[in-house]
Amino acid sequence: MMDQITPLFRPTALIHGADYNPEQWRHVPGIWDTDMRLLKGANLNGVTLGIFSWAELEPAEGVYQFEWMDEIMDRLHANGQRVILATPSGAKPNWMAEKFPEIRRVGEDGRRRLQGLRHNHCLTSPAYRENVSRINTQLAMRYGQHPALLAWHLSNEYGGYCYCELCKSAFREWLKEKYVTLDALNDACWSRFWSHTYTDWNQIDRLDGIHALRLDWKRFMTHQVATFIRNEMAPLRQYAPHVPITTNFMGAYDLYDYNALAKEIDFISWDSYPVWHGQGGEQCPHWHTGLWSTFYHDQFRAMKPDEPMLLIETTPSQVNWAQVSPLKRPGMHRTCCLLGVSRGSQGVCYFQFRSSRGSSEKYHGTVVSHDGRDDTRVFPEISELGALFEKLAPVLGSLPRPQVAVICDHQNRWDLEEMQSPVQGAVNYIGTCVDHYTPFWQRGISMDVPDQSADFSRYRIVIAPELHMLLPGTAERLAAFVEKGGILVTTYLTGYVNETDLCFLGGFPGPLRELLGIRIEEMDALPGFRTVPVRASAGNPLNLTGTWPARDICELIHAESAEVLATYDGEFYSGMPAITRKKSGLGTAYHLCARIGGDFLETFTAAILKDAGIAPLLGEPLPVGVTAQTRLAPDGTQWMFLMNFNETPATVDLGDAGWRNYESPGEVVNRAELPPFTSFIFTSCGDPLPGGDLTT
Ligand code: GLA
Repeated sequence: MMDQITPLFRPTALIHGADYNPEQWRHVPGIWDTDMRLLKGANLNGVTLGIFSWAELEPAEGVYQFEWMDEIMDRLHANGQRVILATPSGAKPNWMAEKFPEIRRVGEDGRRRLQGLRHNHCLTSPAYRENVSRINTQLAMRYGQHPALLAWHLSNEYGGYCYCELCKSAFREWLKEKYVTLDALNDACWSRFWSHTYTDWNQIDRLDGIHALRLDWKRFMTHQVATFIRNEMAPLRQYAPHVPITTNFMGAYDLYDYNALAKEIDFISWDSYPVWHGQGGEQCPHWHTGLWSTFYHDQFRAMKPDEPMLLIETTPSQVNWAQVSPLKRPGMHRTCCLLGVSRGSQGVCYFQFRSSRGSSEKYHGTVVSHDGRDDTRVFPEISELGALFEKLAPVLGSLPRPQVAVICDHQNRWDLEEMQSPVQGAVNYIGTCVDHYTPFWQRGISMDVPDQSADFSRYRIVIAPELHMLLPGTAERLAAFVEKGGILVTTYLTGYVNETDLCFLGGFPGPLRELLGIRIEEMDALPGFRTVPVRASAGNPLNLTGTWPARDICELIHAESAEVLATYDGEFYSGMPAITRKKSGLGTAYHLCARIGGDFLETFTAAILKDAGIAPLLGEPLPVGVTAQTRLAPDGTQWMFLMNFNETPATVDLGDAGWRNYESPGEVVNRAELPPFTSFIFTSCGDPLPGGDLTT
């Protein structure tokens, strides 16, 4: 059999699109004509179509009505829109739920759910897979060669777990394949604890208690989604092998290992719904939303770091599901869309084009609201962005090429959630990853946020916050990375357990002990009102000077072969190491034993960047809440997106590197005045790029 060649996602224009649900309106005369006019007026060159259309495509089992979709596909083609055509498995028709009760999901309480709303099918049910395969085959045969077809959109936001007997029995089979014998399973899961020893596979029915089995359940559910995806894709590949396939992931979603699912699809898409302006106030300045959005973009892109991705859903104005969802302030829409482009997106699509007249999402922000007008506040903003996207086509082909990575790992996150340790209230895994990411963001240093399976050789610096669970091979690959010249930073809570949550024996950080040159003996948990000073030792090799407060978590460690850069200066562990480093081969591994506050991460980041020879993009640092993000083209063209996420203006010194304002051709700028929520695009052809993007 010939190997399948994976089709690449290479649009020839930046995509500016929207979820389009014309089936909701097909009985309203004239509305599709209006839609075609408005799609054009909004400068939309794409739509995602058919996401929730199953009942309108197959109103009864095996009875198909494709005429409306035929007409829409042709009309869109004639109107200049490319189509990302969905498979409809995200919501099943009523007749199907009635005929095949097994496709309705079962909750953890063992009760089968009602037909309900959407995203609630059993992931295992052969009947559901069969029905999905049938409708996908019809779609692929009918539209696989349609000139409007740009890509396939699998389902919608795959999510959740099903606990029916089919799923549980498939789980047991999956466990048998993994562990082969019950003895091996009992050993790996430490099930003798609290007398949970399994003597029959069928006893594995409940998931409470055993950490390793709970982790395995999440891996298994990820596996079920992967096989569900393969079943969805088979007919699409058969009838349209040239059309790339994606599915829309959700930011911050943690029930599946997205990095594993990313391997199944051709390109990454994700739905980004930051609550812009909704988090203002002292605790959380507005620019944090920009920071976190950038982090998620970098996490999704890093799932396929050499491939462009797509910001496939965002709202043109508000969402309808947050408790408070303020309107996007002028400029913010453009800025958050350009943020997506700056991080490797090949465009932006909105949810949704036209407001639904009824039901759940009628008050969600749209391109065309219930008034049906194009002279609104939102519509021209969208249309202007579309015009800009047309001019921005040369950005296609470039991508962010970061030299720095912050590892944020799905499986490690699951493990930390199960940890039940003295510091469990302080873990804050994603927040900790973002804390380490922030000083780079503020310097315009391009970042990847991969999981622990990443190819570390791509990077100069790898930061691994709280990497509590080391999967097989990770420690060896980190050691090889350092040996060849990489800079590794680990923190407290790193290297405690293996992939089945068994503690490493003989001293933490287990298989990283030699690389870091330390042995962790205990961890102290600090209540919120207590801090312990950390003082940099005089003349330390990183030239750190100062005293900073450690909070929440302080590991008590012994430096075995590591140098000590800073020590605790308080508590009964005063004088013990708080920051260490060990050189191995051509590289260096640092360990931060405590969560050190104040401006420590700022100072430390500056020091390791210097050590790595990476200069900040535009001087150091940028004004708070301003970031610069870059894409690099194979011909050396550098694209810089400068964005102000503040409610107040900012000024940025661009130096004399020769940055040109892309929207005012020819103009070389060395100082940028950024009004609130604004964004500028610059290019600098041919010059070497500071700020961490690899040029090779
Ligand atoms: C998700 C879904 C869409 C819609 C939007 C609303 O991203 O994929 O169908 O419900 O949320 O924000």
